[in-house]
Amino acid sequence: MKIAVIGCGYVGLVTGACLAEIGHHVVCTDNDEAKIHTLNAGKLPIYEAELDGIVARTRADGRLTFTANAGEAVRTGEAVFICVGTPPLETGDADLSAIDNVARLIATEARSSKLVIEKSTVPVQTGQQLKRALAVYGRHGGVEFQVVSNPEFLREGTAVLDFLYPDRIVVGVDNGEAEKKLREIYRPILDRSFKCPLPDAMRPKVPLPTLIVTTINSAELIKHASNSFLALKISYANALADLCERLNANVEEVTRAMGMDPRIGPQFLKAGLGFGGFCLPKDVQAFIRLAEKAGVDFTLLKEVERINKRRIDHYLEITRHALWVLKDKQIGMLGLAFKANTDDIRFAPAMDLIKRLLAEGAKIAAYDPEAMERTRALYPNLRYTKDEYAAAEGAEALMIVTEWTQFKQLDWERVYKAMARPLILDGRNLLDPAKMRGMGFEYHSVGRPE
Ligand code: UGA
Repeated sequence: MKIAVIGCGYVGLVTGACLAEIGHHVVCTDNDEAKIHTLNAGKLPIYEAELDGIVARTRADGRLTFTANAGEAVRTGEAVFICVGTPPLETGDADLSAIDNVARLIATEARSSKLVIEKSTVPVQTGQQLKRALAVYGRHGGVEFQVVSNPEFLREGTAVLDFLYPDRIVVGVDNGEAEKKLREIYRPILDRSFKCPLPDAMRPKVPLPTLIVTTINSAELIKHASNSFLALKISYANALADLCERLNANVEEVTRAMGMDPRIGPQFLKAGLGFGGFCLPKDVQAFIRLAEKAGVDFTLLKEVERINKRRIDHYLEITRHALWVLKDKQIGMLGLAFKANTDDIRFAPAMDLIKRLLAEGAKIAAYDPEAMERTRALYPNLRYTKDEYAAAEGAEALMIVTEWTQFKQLDWERVYKAMARPLILDGRNLLDPAKMRGMGFEYHSVGRPE
């Protein structure tokens, strides 16, 4: 099928490249011309595992193209995926102005009927508004539009695998014809007939995905409800961590045993610095606003947010307890990205932490395998180091802020020698307390006995 993808961010690029990989002809567009220029020069504007190979190959095959001419992209695609951002407004509501702009673009540029697929995360009932907008903006064109909701469940860092090997594909439709077209688009993924671009060892051994067909409203709600539930699990684990600290229990032991109950499950029960990134925080906020406007009491989610906001306060309390005054203290920071395996720093706990440490006069030397360039744009005056050891050099505390696996495998003897004071503040419970203390470190983490 000929497909247009509007928006070349984390979601749009992965969607476009993977749709090309499974055999479609895809044209991607973005209103940021510099981004299109970068892509056409064979470079990726983001870091996402496995994406570069797929983009290079599908471009070489001619199945994936990038254009700054959005009208041309719209006219080329029989189906148009909307993958633009829906950032939070001051009020917490999702900002839908980019979706509105795209609706206008599609309605005015289309010359033949289109299947318009809403992939961006949007509040329930956006599909209805989108339908109305397409009809109004396109009223002179005589072109027919079908709107469907097809939320993404891609995790940054494993987005390519998540796209090609999903556990479910949700399609919200209001007629059988739209459902048929979506089945056709996703058929190679549903019956796994595509040729896997990844080496054998990396191919997930998972069952075939289920296609879940719902109303448009339900599909939109599924996305917000899922992300909010994940956030809730994390905040639950973090509240447990606080309790464990007071009562001298170990949150890792508690959540491990809890997670073995299949009704609970082990994932997203990791205590630490809380959830960040561009999805969970804003989706919880938007869901709270949605419930408020619908007159439903969902204060449960406000508590989830409140617990999450307190994580940095709590970590700073641990830090002050260990370091006393922060002014002029040299702190090494390992990790800036909101989680491992991404360069994304949007709403990353590290950003909040940096701001507050600087406000108290601390000096920071930071290292992250992927996210230093992006952080430099926000904090040009931090010292960014060439590796973990340089960040530890002369430091009076070493903070572990992102759970990069490589931090686990450091030569800790070398770190010990490099530091001015061997103090580790492990915000992600990445390291083994007994081992670290055995080496002579003063070691603090979250929710584990001191
Ligand atoms: C999230 C969802 O997991 C995806 O399903 C969804 O499609 C996506 O948002 C989206 O809405 O677009 P992502 O933002 O890549 O994906 O991040 P996650 O891997 O879900 O992690 C979210 C945050 O929670 C990270 O800051 C992570 O460090 C934190 N986390 C995660 C914990 O603190 N504890 C845990 O146990 C798990």
